Amino acid sequence: MKAIVLDAFVTDLSSLTATEAPLPKPWQPADVLIRITHASITHVDVLYARGLHQNNRRHTKPPFTLGLEFSGIVAQSPAFSAYRPGDRVFGSALGAYAEYIAVPEKLLRRVPRGYGLREACALGASGCVAVASLMGERGARLRRGESVLVLGAAGGLGVIACQVAKAAGARVIGVVGSKEKERVVRGLGVEVVRYDSPGWEGKVRALTRDGEDEEGGVDVVYDPVGNVESSLRCIKYGGRVLVIGYAGRHGVMEQIPANKILLKSAKVIGYRWGEHGRRFPQEAEKVWDKVMEMAEIGEVKPVVYDKEYKGLESVPRAMHDVEANKAWGRAIITIANEGEVLEEMSKSKL
Ligand SMILES: NC(=O)c1ccc[n+]([C@@H]2O[C@H](COP(=O)([O-])OP(=O)(O)OC[C@H]3O[C@@H](n4cnc5c(N)ncnc54)[C@H](OP(=O)(O)O)[C@@H]3O)[C@@H](O)[C@H]2O)c1
Repeated sequence: MKAIVLDAFVTDLSSLTATEAPLPKPWQPADVLIRITHASITHVDVLYARGLHQNNRRHTKPPFTLGLEFSGIVAQSPAFSAYRPGDRVFGSALGAYAEYIAVPEKLLRRVPRGYGLREACALGASGCVAVASLMGERGARLRRGESVLVLGAAGGLGVIACQVAKAAGARVIGVVGSKEKERVVRGLGVEVVRYDSPGWEGKVRALTRDGEDEEGGVDVVYDPVGNVESSLRCIKYGGRVLVIGYAGRHGVMEQIPANKILLKSAKVIGYRWGEHGRRFPQEAEKVWDKVMEMAEIGEVKPVVYDKEYKGLESVPRAMHDVEANKAWGRAIITIANEGEVLEEMSKSKL
């Protein structure tokens, strides 16, 4: 099969190429083999290619196959598996920029009703991050009627967080940096503030000022960008800041004077979906159930960047677009056509 195998971290994304690699072997007897049709390009993939993610210092070191989120069709499964060849699935595991991947079935979900494989790939784990961190007991415990500010609102995590907060009955304001992204986020039915205009934090407070609260400010900030200082300026007294990621920091972490937390009696809550899933698997299952329900009733709809990327050879171009902040929602690579895969599979049975 073809795959983008990283033998060393790269400085130039254009140097990433798909080469011939052995078909993945199941790591465990329960692994399911999937013919990948789609893979997404996330901010983490770009960091992994360059070796800049915190995981690259510990467990994710070359050689490895790039790509973290995929959708596709089950090609082989053990007899006792819940999945059968031909089932449409999506999941998150290292090795998605390839024609095939073998994963434990607990990492898979069926494509939600009403979704295509492309849309399921764009949903990925973003719904879980939003549901668990915004609504969960270990997160912000968002209540109906509260206000939520979503930074990086047009990004892969942001577009889903806006929808999850809205479905939870919150007033949602998205923060974006361009006219095109403003259009995308307004399309989700939420208010927008542009961070490329000076004093944008003041605009957030002005929007949320009312008779009872003259200072203004939101109850919760969802921050996948790494701007806790601005988040603290945007919350009301006693508000919560969810630290989700660092998409705007280019690897340099923010230093915040601790008195800014005290002055607002703020709660700053870090949330890591992957680690929570490993430590609290039963809670993670409940989060997945909630996300699947929201997806199937249309409360959460994936947002797919409208540029087409076909084949593994388009991965470097798509990564450049994500890294340059051009893409919105999720940039999706089409690795194989669903109809052709199913035809191939039916012929191989004959
Ligand atoms: N905690 C978790 O469990 C978890 C799980 C998955 C991912 N993450 C992390 O979450 C972060 C976001 O991931 P993603 O996939 O959503 O990334 P993404 O799709 O690339 O989106 C990031 C967004 O951030 C905005 N942005 C970039 N620089 C900015 C800046 N200087 N100021 C304000 N906004 C800026 C961009 O929009 P504009 O063009 O509007 O600037 C972009 O839309 C990453 O750091 C990732 O590692 C965390």
